[in-house]
Amino acid sequence: MESVKKGFEYIKYNALSELTPADLELVQKAMEQLPKAYAPYSGFHVGAAVRLADDSIFVGSNQENASYPLCMCGERVALYNAAANKPDVSPMTLAITIQNQKIKITEPASPCGACRQVISEYAFRHKQPIRILLKADSEVVYEIQSNEDLLPLGFNGSFL
Ligand code: THU
Repeated sequence: MESVKKGFEYIKYNALSELTPADLELVQKAMEQLPKAYAPYSGFHVGAAVRLADDSIFVGSNQENASYPLCMCGERVALYNAAANKPDVSPMTLAITIQNQKIKITEPASPCGACRQVISEYAFRHKQPIRILLKADSEVVYEIQSNEDLLPLGFNGSFL
C-alpha cells in the first residue's frame, strides 16, 4: 500500500490592480452581473464570467426560485450560457464574484459542490483544465490554477 497526498496552492491577490488586463476584464464582467442576479430569497448575489479559448466571454448570475431546490448558481448559468452558444470552444478561465446584501464578505466564497462537478464536466469535455478566479466583496481575488484543485478525484465520463 502507499499513502497518496493531494494538495494545491493558490495565488491570493490583494488588489484588482495586481491582475493581468485579461483577468481584470473577466472579473469586471462578473461584477457587472451582480445587480442582475435574481436572489430575492437569499440576498446573496453571484456574478460569473467565463472566457473561452477564442477569447469570447459569456456571463451569468444566480437565479432563485420560490421552490428553493430549483435555484441555479451563477457560475453554472455562465457555463451553460457559454456551452449553449459555443459548444465546441473550451472554457479557459471562470471568474466568480459575490455580494451578500446583508453582510460584507471580504474573503472569496468558493463554488458549491454541484458547481465544482459542472465545472469539471466542461474541463473533461474539452480535455482542458479550467482556471478559476474567485473575487470577494472586496478587492481580494484567489486564482486557482485548475478545476482539479477544487474537486480532486472527481467523477467523470471516463468511468461511463
Ligand atoms: N450560489 C451560487 O450562485 N454559487 C455557488 O457556488 C453557491 C451558491 C447561489 C445559489 C443561491 O441563489 C444563493 O447563492 C445562496 O445559496
